[in-house]
Amino acid sequence: MSGKVEFYRHQLGEEEAASWLGAVKTLFLTLGPQVAAFEQELGRYLVRGREGAPAPHVVGTNACTMGLMLALRALDVGPGDEVITTPMTFAATASAILHLGAKPRLVDVEPRTGLIDPVAVQAAVGPSTAGILPVHLYGQMADMKALRAIADRHALFIVEDSAHGIEMERDGVRPGDLSEAAVFSFYATKNLTSGDGGAVATRDARVAERLRRLRNHGATKAATDRHGAAYQHWDIVELGYKANLTDLDAALLRPQLPRAEEKRDARERLARRYESRLRERVPELASPPATALGVPWLVERRGRSSHHLFTIHTRPGERDAMLARLGAAGVGTAVNYRALHTLTYFSEVLDLACGALPVAEEIGDRTISLPMYPTLTPDEQDRVVEAVATAWT
Ligand SMILES: Cc1ncc(COP(=O)(O)O)c(C=O)c1O
Repeated sequence: MSGKVEFYRHQLGEEEAASWLGAVKTLFLTLGPQVAAFEQELGRYLVRGREGAPAPHVVGTNACTMGLMLALRALDVGPGDEVITTPMTFAATASAILHLGAKPRLVDVEPRTGLIDPVAVQAAVGPSTAGILPVHLYGQMADMKALRAIADRHALFIVEDSAHGIEMERDGVRPGDLSEAAVFSFYATKNLTSGDGGAVATRDARVAERLRRLRNHGATKAATDRHGAAYQHWDIVELGYKANLTDLDAALLRPQLPRAEEKRDARERLARRYESRLRERVPELASPPATALGVPWLVERRGRSSHHLFTIHTRPGERDAMLARLGAAGVGTAVNYRALHTLTYFSEVLDLACGALPVAEEIGDRTISLPMYPTLTPDEQDRVVEAVATAWT
């Protein structure tokens, strides 16, 4: 088989289309029954297999980016506050903090996983620190137990950037278990997708209530709440945003939830197959110096990954040439991520010189993400491996 191996292909099919059409034919297209049902179902998914455990509150948003902003606002983050976060992430993580007038305090990541380093977090805590915003990179969870201990010691909040999955677990901890809020993304390339969309899970009912208000202009009631025989006035009680999930998006997401585990398992099988084939074909990938920084799949797994992204690290200085060769060979790739403070805007606003966070910078210079999705065929995967082997030499 020839043709391009796409970096990502969504798996929305007949069931999602039928669910979407069903929602189109109802009265409410937004903030209606589909959104409410999806929020309940995602809450239950997050406590799957835990007999009798109460589900967190879930609030659907139009994106993870806005979910992060709403969560920070709901926790009263504002000017003068610092939020400790990671440079190994998408712009949204730091942008959300900056939009609230607060300052992202970037700290370095663990060499073997690319996850925020709890030792660096502890060292960065200061009088202005309001909270910690870890990112569960590629689908591996940050060390939430260590981060919670730091947060408790210094009375900080934790908001988790869980854009890379709903499926993960580490040390018995899932997104939302040990934080004030965990925020998910349903962007076009995510494991669950509605093109764009997001959700916030929180165990704090007051935070959930504030999130619901903030996502809808700070209004006391949404149109669906006011739908009845007699007109009901609403009020605006704080400055809010327009950032809710729509019923059409929720209708696309709902049929995906019952298949999330099955798809995660398929991704894990693909990850293991990549691992064994790449070890055979590019032994250098599995031995120093390529692994001096660690390649996430060579790291002993802790818990369960959502396997959102599969990354390799090239030799120093060779990443961009490899990207060009893989592109020419018809393999879709991405870079997750160039360290945030090396991007023009963040380098200006964060006042961090190159060299300040060496581990993140080196991962950022050497990382490539390969195609990873349940419908990637063995043939396509073999072509990716061959293209990597050829491009490596
Ligand atoms: C780590 C991370 N955080 C936040 C986001 C933002 O997600 P969204 O596009 O849903 O706003 C992304 C999206 O790519 C991401 O990868």
